[in-house]
Amino acid sequence: MMFKKIMLVALLAVVTASAKKPCCGPKQFMAGNGGTVGQVDPDSGPQGFFTYQYGAFDYTNRMFGYNMSVTYPNGTQTNIKLIQKYGQGYQYIILEEFQYCQKQPVTKPEPINCIPANATWTSSLFIGGSKGLYADSWTYNFVYPKDPIEGVIVIQVFESNCYPFGTAFIGDRFQGQTRVPMTSSGGLLNMTIGIPDPDAWFTVPSFCPTEMNTFKTREERSAPNLPNLDFFHLPQFY
Ligand SMILES: *[C@@H]1O[C@H](CO)[C@@H](O)[C@H](O)[C@H]1NC(C)=O
Ligand SMILES: *[C@@H]1O[C@H](CO)[C@@H](O)[C@H](O)[C@H]1NC(C)=O
Ligand SMILES: *[C@@H]1O[C@H](CO)[C@@H](O)[C@H](O)[C@H]1NC(C)=O
Ligand SMILES: *[C@@H]1O[C@H](CO)[C@@H](O)[C@H](O)[C@H]1NC(C)=O
Repeated sequence: MMFKKIMLVALLAVVTASAKKPCCGPKQFMAGNGGTVGQVDPDSGPQGFFTYQYGAFDYTNRMFGYNMSVTYPNGTQTNIKLIQKYGQGYQYIILEEFQYCQKQPVTKPEPINCIPANATWTSSLFIGGSKGLYADSWTYNFVYPKDPIEGVIVIQVFESNCYPFGTAFIGDRFQGQTRVPMTSSGGLLNMTIGIPDPDAWFTVPSFCPTEMNTFKTREERSAPNLPNLDFFHLPQFY
């Protein structure tokens, strides 16, 4: 009996010792994020595309500003600029070449720079061979309607500094009341700490409207060649 108890205590100690604590990454950085998205679009049906974002990610001021390309498998590519201001609750979608700009409610959920307390550690791993970089994999769930999306997210961060480098999501987003099945994955690259030129990324062009648009349908929201952009929880690295 006593022996069993000791065994149990020892076992618990081992479990506790190996338990990883969720960590926080940098609050302001520049980075590229290459991603893929697959979704069953309510209007166009199943589709997939590649995305690439490069820009400034500022969790302190709750702002994200980046250039983004969306590339379909047939080669069609759209380049836009996004400025997302979570403090104010809106975002701008900008097509510089057409002097086109939309102001609309910011896409949720708001990205955070920490692995949330409810995340479960799933494994540790080396990237780039046994002398490579040591990393941790975490997972947690979004639940609708508490969260604006529903599903499971997997996040990978380097063990030494909690810099994120890989993320994947499988679940649903909601377009009004419509459940849109989607999967997305992304990988961070060329991350540098700090935002040397915030104006270049966060200054709203003068041709942008001051009023939020009230577009209801996807056609109204679309500029020439502008894809459906409702999947923008892409800076969700944690
Ligand atoms: C390429 O695919 C996109 C998305 O399905 C579509 O909107 C576009 O019209 C296609 N372009 C061509 C040239 O086929
Ligand atoms: C971002 O896009 C703008 C055009 O909208 C371009 O002038 C600028 O050079 C781009 N920046 C980078 C780093 O690609
Ligand atoms: C886990 O935490 C995230 C971030 O705070 C939250 O959005 C999500 O709803 C939580 N998941 C569950 C199952 O409570
Ligand atoms: C990443 O950084 C390297 C070194 O500065 C540069 O040569 C490369 O073009 C960058 N890659 C991307 C995708 O921006």
